[in-house]
Amino acid sequence: MAQEASMDLPIIDLDIFLQQPRDSEAVKAECTRAADALITYGALVLHDSRVSMSDNDTFLDLLEDYFAQPQEELKKDERPEFAYQIGVTLENTEKPKCAVDEPCLRVIERLAPSERPLDISGHEPDPKCRFFWRMVEPPPYETRFPVLNAENVVPEAPHIRERWTPVMNQWGTSMKNAVEGLTQMAAVGLGLPADTFRDAGRYGPHLLAPTASDLQKYGQKDTILAGFHTDLNFLTIHGRSRYPGLHIWARNTGRKIPVRIPPGNYLLVQAGKQLEYITGGLIKAGYHEVVVNDQTLRVIEERRERFPDRPLVRISSTFFWHLSSDYDLAPLPGLADRAKELRAEKQAQGRDEGDEVEYPPIKVGDQVSNELKHIALMAAS
Ligand SMILES: [Fe+2]
Repeated sequence: MAQEASMDLPIIDLDIFLQQPRDSEAVKAECTRAADALITYGALVLHDSRVSMSDNDTFLDLLEDYFAQPQEELKKDERPEFAYQIGVTLENTEKPKCAVDEPCLRVIERLAPSERPLDISGHEPDPKCRFFWRMVEPPPYETRFPVLNAENVVPEAPHIRERWTPVMNQWGTSMKNAVEGLTQMAAVGLGLPADTFRDAGRYGPHLLAPTASDLQKYGQKDTILAGFHTDLNFLTIHGRSRYPGLHIWARNTGRKIPVRIPPGNYLLVQAGKQLEYITGGLIKAGYHEVVVNDQTLRVIEERRERFPDRPLVRISSTFFWHLSSDYDLAPLPGLADRAKELRAEKQAQGRDEGDEVEYPPIKVGDQVSNELKHIALMAAS
């Protein structure tokens, strides 16, 4: 019988790590909880009292206004020549790669029917738009991957333009600081030096990447706003969205968990493919989807009444934290061994985790382009 995951994700307190001595029991215990949460759930809720909720609101207001602009205006911010890795990606461009990915389809098959994601087999592109705002420290060495490190796009419309850069940077920096703190906690919890992951991602092409779904157009129950998938980067961190609808799967099997982030200084963090790779599968990239569910409908009605003049757009304030493009990605030896042990343990419990995944050494930049080809944002070369 499959062990059931708790419906509530563990809450990890970054304040403890930042405010108490590194060698204290409290810090060690909280770091272990952080690593365990990532191993068990592939996700956790992060508390960071430095993060201001009013910054999140200012950010969500700006992005609602931005995406409420006419299509022609948004089109000016597209950069297909950079594989849409900066500027805007309009709706129906990005396809959920799982629909053509065998191992991923088998993950769905292994789920009980009641716990499966909404059907993505039609391979329709997602009806979501997004904006990529890079937050990068340029590497002091010559990079093999300059395309992914191109200049940011600032929208033209005057009422957006003047607010844009400070608001994006303010909220982006808050999330970046929070997630970098968590990379340190996770490293300590896994028995590594605290800066192992942070240093490996210092020159990463980090992206503040809000997505927008037009709920006027796509507000019917069971609409897929983002089909079942995992993220290709290291860790993804989200501020609280105004509309529910994000479902995650703990360790890619078992239960579908509707995400609830408590109000206040809380953020949601999910493991991506690079973290899976570097831990040899000890931590697995977390599957998730964004759909219109009953809670989404309830909030749509509520906001229609309370804010009749505001655009009905679901913004997700997502920040993708990456490893540096030139970093040589391969499983860290101690972790790969633990991953094998855990896999054997799961198997003994009757938990089928599918075929064993290989993690051959690869440059992070190549791993990212492979994943992008898969999701149809970059022409296969
Ligand atoms: Fe995602």
